[in-house]
Amino acid sequence: ITAPCTPGIDPDVVDNFAFAFDIDGVLIRGGKPIPEAIEAMKVLNGENEFGVKVPYIFLTNGGGKFETERCKDLSGQLEIDVSPGQFICGHTPMREFADRYGTVLVVGGEGEKCRDVAESYGFRDVITPGDILKANAATAPFRQLTPSEFQNSRDLLEGGVKKLSDIVVEAVFVFADSRDWASDLQIILDIAQSKGGRLETRSETFDEGPPIYFSHGDVLWSAAHEHARLGMGALRKIVETVFSDTSGGKKLKTHAFGKPQVSTFEFATRLLQQWRAAHHGLAESAPPDTVYFVGDTPESDIRGTNAMNEKSSNEWYSILVKTGVYQEGTEPRYKPRKLVDTVLDAVNHGIRREM
Ligand code: G3P
Ligand code: MG
Repeated sequence: ITAPCTPGIDPDVVDNFAFAFDIDGVLIRGGKPIPEAIEAMKVLNGENEFGVKVPYIFLTNGGGKFETERCKDLSGQLEIDVSPGQFICGHTPMREFADRYGTVLVVGGEGEKCRDVAESYGFRDVITPGDILKANAATAPFRQLTPSEFQNSRDLLEGGVKKLSDIVVEAVFVFADSRDWASDLQIILDIAQSKGGRLETRSETFDEGPPIYFSHGDVLWSAAHEHARLGMGALRKIVETVFSDTSGGKKLKTHAFGKPQVSTFEFATRLLQQWRAAHHGLAESAPPDTVYFVGDTPESDIRGTNAMNEKSSNEWYSILVKTGVYQEGTEPRYKPRKLVDTVLDAVNHGIRREM
């Protein structure tokens, strides 16, 4: 009989506090690291005046890749090893829905990547907007699939399926940002207004469409441009507004995962506990007294952290940085416990508050 393989406690690690980071606008902008982020990671890994190591995880609303791929990118950008065991992206919690639905429409991301991600989560029958356009190009008059998009799309009209109306979509999942808003909007609306998700049909009552899930609801996010860019939350608002405008005023209620949902922060708590145990040898059953969450978007990062703090038995301490969506001089709609310039200031603030 061999003893279970648990790591010994890392002697330099702190057990009473930890950090969780938003990515875009805090650590990365437009695929490049924010310079202070590299230094901040070094400080957490022991290069601080107290010589302590502080556990940390990443919690982004972004997505569109396998978690393993995104961690590889982040490792290169931040010059550290980032493990999928310390990483959650917008669509990660969608994996818990894989058993619930049969045929699903998966929207967003580069090429057909999100189909692969959804299948890796266990979704059994994934169709994409490209598959629908391949079967009926008239669906979106101004969108023409490129030869490679055409080739990589599934043939829906095969294996006994004679027409698109033989297919019933049980749920729509917007995994990542749309690369073609007009055609994706058309296809999502067609399904929302269908008879129970049956393709190419139109409901008479406009209240029988399948559920529509977005991996987050951020209207704005911070990319390479000096001003914040439109995100998936903007598409979500358009879907809901245009649905109402074209359904005689009927309301469409869509769902969003990601921050600021408290369930996402609870998911993060479980991941942090597992990570502290697996990587640092700390007891999984004893959470840190304080989790410092560093974000750039008041509506998702600060709102969610403050809501989690209200609900949780331990402290969730929100820190807002000035390197992303939040603009200096404006009044944030949700107030952080601390406002700092960069993620490095956030890390130093948390460590000094504790030591
Ligand atoms: O699409 C990405 C985004 O809306 C925000 O990402 O890392 O700031 O949560 P993040
Ligand atoms: Mg952000």
